[in-house]
This record gives sequence, structure tokens and C-alpha cells, in this order.
Amino acid sequence: MTEDVHDIRLRVNGIQHTARVPARRLLSDCLRHDLGLTGTHVGCEHGVCGACTVLVDGRPVRSCLMLAVSAAQHADITTVEGLAAADGTPHPVQQAFAECHALQCGFCTPGFLTLVAAYLRDNPDPGEDDAREAVTGNLCRCTGYQNIVAAVLRAAEITRGQDGVPRARPPAEEGRVPEAGGGRP
Ligand code: FES
Ligand code: FES
Repeated sequence: MTEDVHDIRLRVNGIQHTARVPARRLLSDCLRHDLGLTGTHVGCEHGVCGACTVLVDGRPVRSCLMLAVSAAQHADITTVEGLAAADGTPHPVQQAFAECHALQCGFCTPGFLTLVAAYLRDNPDPGEDDAREAVTGNLCRCTGYQNIVAAVLRAAEITRGQDGVPRARPPAEEGRVPEAGGGRP
């Protein structure tokens, strides 16, 4: 039996793409295999790990749980490749993850970056408990989460600095980055 294929249009990171996909093609697979955007990672492929998180119309979505044909009905998709500014300046969340050493193998990182970027847009001044809660649905096998939480707070500082509020020192200088390791957030 032949499988139905669909010609779809996806606007990803501001660029219009076309693809011919089977009806059951996952958005995560479409991004990676049809569009070549391999920054989106696939871990569990059933909605648990969050590695595949992208922004659909600005909201975090697990792209392994959305069909590409469904995604085509939305206006805009942002992957990790689309977070940096057009001139290559890293997104504040990317800068913060680098400053705070919030990644080790990096497999989970694209999902955290997109998730946190959307979170801070709606919650620009989180406390530590808020930051911990924000990332609790994404899994990281390496970092112990402490530096990821620090990076969320640091990204908020950087973002507020861009809005004219004086930038705080990096968390490491303030002694706020705990030892690596530990349990879930
Ligand atoms: S790969 Fe999508 S949630 Fe794990
Ligand atoms: S840095 Fe390795 S899984 Fe998170």
C-alpha cells in the first residue's frame, strides 16, 4: 500500500520552506531530514525528554509529538538555529548557557535553549524556584541541572540589561553557580 504524501509549506526561522512529506512525518523528522535543520535533537521520540523542543507560533512544542502537516497550519516555527540575531549575536539564553557552563554533551541543549527563550519572554524576572520549575519538563543526563538553573537566571539578567537595566555580574562571580552534579531540578 502506498502512503499518501503531502506538499507542505513551513516558515522556519523566518524562511519559507516547501517539503513533500508522508502524512505521518513528525515535525522533528521533517526539520532534520527534509529541511536539514539538525540542531533540533531527537531523544525519546515520545514526548518525554524535551530535546526536540521548538517554538511554534512562539510557544514551546515537542516536535516529536506534532506532525509536519499539522505544523504547516501554523504561521511560524523557530528552531535553535533561529535564536541568534541575524548578525550572529547569540541569543541571551545561548550566551548565558555558555557563561554558566550549562551544558556538557549538549544533546539536550537545543531543547533547553528554545524552552527558556520562550519562558523568559513571558517571565522576564524569575526567581530561582521559578527557573527550576521552568526547566523541570526537560531532561538532561549530564549537568545535574544546577548550572542550567543558573543560566536561566543569567539569561534573564542579560535580557533585562538589553532593556536598559544595568547588567549584573555573571553568576559564577557572585558564587551562585553550585557544584555540578545532583539530581533532577
Ligand atoms: S524527542 Fe521529543 S520529547 Fe524526547
Ligand atoms: S548536557 Fe548532556 S544531556 Fe544535557
